[in-house]
Amino acid sequence: MIRKLIALLALVAGTASAADSLRPPLLLTARPAVQDLGGSWTYSKDLYRTGLTDINGWVAKSRMQRFRDVDVAAEEAKTGPAFFEFDLDRGPAMTLPGAWNSAVAELRYFDGLIWFQRRFDAASGASSSPGQRSFLRFEAVNYRAMVYLNGKAIAQHEGGFTPFVVEVTDTLRANGNRLVVGVDSRHDAQTIPGEITDWDLYGGITRPVKLIQTPATFIDDATLRLTDAGRFVGSLQLNGPQAGDQPVSLRIAGLNLTLTARTDANGEAHFDVAAPASLKRWTPDAPTLYDVDFEAGGDHMRDRIGFRTIAVRGSEILLNGQPVFLKGISVHEEEIAANPARLIDEAAARRLLGEVKNGLHGNYVRLSHYPHAETMLRVADEIGLLVWSEIPVYWTVDWDSSATLALARRMQAETLYRDRNRAALILWSIGNETPVAENRTRFHTALAETVRALDPSRLVSAALLVERKGDTLRIADPLLKELDVIAVNTYAGWYGDDTLADVARLRWDVPADKPLVFSEFGADAKAGFNDPQLRRKFSEDYQADYYRATLAMAAKVPTLRGLSPWVLKDFRSPRREHPVFQNGWNRKGLISETGQRKLAFDLLADHYQALPH
Ligand code: GCU
Repeated sequence: MIRKLIALLALVAGTASAADSLRPPLLLTARPAVQDLGGSWTYSKDLYRTGLTDINGWVAKSRMQRFRDVDVAAEEAKTGPAFFEFDLDRGPAMTLPGAWNSAVAELRYFDGLIWFQRRFDAASGASSSPGQRSFLRFEAVNYRAMVYLNGKAIAQHEGGFTPFVVEVTDTLRANGNRLVVGVDSRHDAQTIPGEITDWDLYGGITRPVKLIQTPATFIDDATLRLTDAGRFVGSLQLNGPQAGDQPVSLRIAGLNLTLTARTDANGEAHFDVAAPASLKRWTPDAPTLYDVDFEAGGDHMRDRIGFRTIAVRGSEILLNGQPVFLKGISVHEEEIAANPARLIDEAAARRLLGEVKNGLHGNYVRLSHYPHAETMLRVADEIGLLVWSEIPVYWTVDWDSSATLALARRMQAETLYRDRNRAALILWSIGNETPVAENRTRFHTALAETVRALDPSRLVSAALLVERKGDTLRIADPLLKELDVIAVNTYAGWYGDDTLADVARLRWDVPADKPLVFSEFGADAKAGFNDPQLRRKFSEDYQADYYRATLAMAAKVPTLRGLSPWVLKDFRSPRREHPVFQNGWNRKGLISETGQRKLAFDLLADHYQALPH
């Protein structure tokens, strides 16, 4: 027993130190921008990546190096041998953020490298004040980013859904900056996700790019949460020459609470105090948020934070100690529009999540299959929706690649450090429908350990595949022991030969000691295809019948604690090409791509409204 305990402590310590190494070097999560660099960017296609590598793997010819800090037109006005085969100053333009696939017809299915350029004068004070520091924060670039400022390579990032920050204090000019970003959308066997997904390409700078300025020593990140023991615990990280041994204060005016602490030699301070009795805990019905003001090193940072606890006890999910049933739906990151560009601003987030909260009477949303825009989490915090967040370890991944595992862990960490102050976020998912195999389970187990080391306060799950024998569906996945909540995707009645009558007869053989959620079930329906007599597949009538049958089957599963049917809205997928019903859209949405509600929408809404609160 002692040996086991020592081994466990070593593992936790090891994982914990490994977790520390996963903290992104710069976060700047809750800092306002001095300049939003959205707007008109020029671009230059580079299908053969000649801006990076020439034929035979030679170094790219300078006449093709899009990142150079050169005024091509001015150079061409001179005589001499130099010539160019690009010019980002005179290139075509598109408005960013947003995926290139939706911006211009010729790029609809472009999957490769495109160079983007933004010329700009730095916001006043962003580069001149003494000691002032400047940073660029990219909220997401899909899939690889190569960033150059004024001809200098300043950052690279892999992963299409998480933020990264680079300091530009010494590179930024007061005027005439040339920011060039090479964006490569290509995926391969070692990327996350891999090459095949059931969603569209959406390449490009898909979320905001911001210029942020700070004092020489600044608060890079600060957290506060409520523990099961009723205490406020948190941390603050100072960055800069005066980070060590600094007084720190935390103030929650709404609770008349002020805490003080001091940073250690690494600029880190910790908080741990009993939460005031006057605290109003965050719940979906009463999503109370508090302004939390952090002061340290002469800097100030404010975040709006809700306080709640989440846990599992046997087969129950407990929110603030009370059993909760997750009445939700799955959502892809696509705005409600005929031609979505994966452009989720606050208005788009409110429209999508309003359909869940007010339309479906839901209290939960599965943000699938990758980290969504930060604004989705902040809107969920505000309107009261519990959130499942996942990284795109989806279907096929190179389970034996240490580089791929390191990428997945970093992606998880980048997500977690961005969102860990969000009360709405209760579940970290570490995978979706990955076939059971020894190397796959080892990969996921390492991810589960990473999540728990980085954030012991939330639950861990994964959307698993089921085994079927006759009318019995079993979950016999070795990953189960790593999960707090069992989640399964089930499609009987849509995929396969089951009739809807068969669905009602299905039985589930699942562990009784853990909560179960149906993370996916769904059927395609083309909005407006009504077929009341024959009720054929792809009709709204069949989709509604499918929901009736599946919800009836679900009601018989004693440990079922949540539903996130697949999917709120029809979404783009190159795998769905039926010329009458799909045309590049997965039609399992309860609303069409333009927001038209289908028959099954009201059926699910009525079901949730009838469930006990
Ligand atoms: C899978 C997968 C989804 C996909 C869905 C479908 O379960 O998780 O990403 O879109 O099924 O087939 O529509």
